[in-house]
Amino acid sequence: MQRRQFLILSGSTLGGILLSQCASSQTRGKDASASAAVFKSQEGLLEVNLDIESHVFSFAGKQGNLLSYNQQIPGPRLEAYPGDRVRIHATNSLSAPTNLHYHGLHISPEGSADNIFLQLSPGETYTYEFTIPDNHYGTTGYYHPHLHGYVAQQVFGGLGGIFVVRGALDDIPEIQQAKEEFLFLKDFDLTAARGRSQPFHGMQMMGRDGPILTVNGQVNPQFSIPSGGLLRLRFVNASTSRFYRLQLEGHPLYLIATDAGATASPIQLSELLLSPGERAEVLIQGNAEPGQYRLLNLPYERGQMGMMGGGMMGGGMMGRRRNQRETPQTLATLNYSGETETLPLPQQLIPIETLPEPKTVRQFTLNHGMFPGRGMQFLINGQAFDPRRVDTRVSLDTVEDWEIINTGVMDHPFHLHTNPFQIMSRNGQPVTHRTWKDTVLVPRGESVRIRIPFQDFAGKTVYHCHILDHEDLGMMGIIVMNG
Ligand code: C2O
Ligand code: CU
Ligand code: CU
Repeated sequence: MQRRQFLILSGSTLGGILLSQCASSQTRGKDASASAAVFKSQEGLLEVNLDIESHVFSFAGKQGNLLSYNQQIPGPRLEAYPGDRVRIHATNSLSAPTNLHYHGLHISPEGSADNIFLQLSPGETYTYEFTIPDNHYGTTGYYHPHLHGYVAQQVFGGLGGIFVVRGALDDIPEIQQAKEEFLFLKDFDLTAARGRSQPFHGMQMMGRDGPILTVNGQVNPQFSIPSGGLLRLRFVNASTSRFYRLQLEGHPLYLIATDAGATASPIQLSELLLSPGERAEVLIQGNAEPGQYRLLNLPYERGQMGMMGGGMMGGGMMGRRRNQRETPQTLATLNYSGETETLPLPQQLIPIETLPEPKTVRQFTLNHGMFPGRGMQFLINGQAFDPRRVDTRVSLDTVEDWEIINTGVMDHPFHLHTNPFQIMSRNGQPVTHRTWKDTVLVPRGESVRIRIPFQDFAGKTVYHCHILDHEDLGMMGIIVMNG
């Protein structure tokens, strides 16, 4: 295939070192803030070229051929405001088809917008173009490929980037004074056989994960906070299957935003669990003894392989657990550097609107099964994904409650496109803090009720498990929103 020259159409400059050009930038201990290129909208337009291509990267002294947007992992960070026009010229230089999904954006699921039914053939350039609504919430969005059957492989291969929409949260004085950092969490496996090709079926069932943990494409990068200051950490779980149970030594986390918007006020947490596709923003207060503090990933067990398929997995796989480790892993390190006048935490953030009682309540049961000749399939209400079938029809300007019931032996993060929702209850117990979400973890054996206002955009899109191997193996349904 012919290589093309790409111009950066947006007027913004590259925010820092391109990882790909400098393998040493991925070694331990670099300052993390300079890691990703940033494209910001200018005069209401965000125009970007994204070249989707394979490229050699190295982490912790190991090299591997991965997939990238513009030869960077993560892909460039895109930033826009409500009302902005977005134009993304995406060129597929891979040998397989791909496409783009704008996870977290409330935009049309059709045409050249957030249309996951589009397919970019190898060699093709396609221009995505849409307008972000004037009343769009502020969010840490996440763009990634979404072509059914290829998603896990391409995300695990390296594809993904942050799409920020600035909003009311950004205008709160204490938040404006906080130092802002993005943390794009992604695991890799550079073993030639595992990084890019399909893993064996058992690995797909549990959801593939890799031993190399990165934040912004770096192993254990450093972040800094001034004594007295505030640090705003914006997390994206961009991993294919891995869960992160985050804890910062010596510092509580003050949750200020979930997937699709701010909380009503900061919520103090000692740890934060993020399943794939989930995002969260926290504030950290620089009020500890100056020193080094590790951002940890605590052990979490998200399912058990040996219990699947009635022990049909064979001896080697019996009882194999994923993500279960006895000791916490270090993701990044926080340093104290400098001093500032003491910044207080904000008291109030953005009020969460109370949604009206729904007229329609639906149930979605998540499970899996063995199918002769097809192996393991992942199911919603007993059915695997079929692109020709419409599973759910809803009407715009209505509110619905969906009860998501996990009767399987693995946890499933359930994600709905286009319209964010609020979590109402878990296992019948009302949740204390309402927040705006687009992905909700439904642990094995549990149920979650969510309330969804269907607004603004008619069209066809999907809901699915965000363990992307499960999505590729069928745990996805089609929803049509009628105007
Ligand atoms: Cu983040 Cu349907 O995906
Ligand atoms: Cu999505
Ligand atoms: Cu799943």
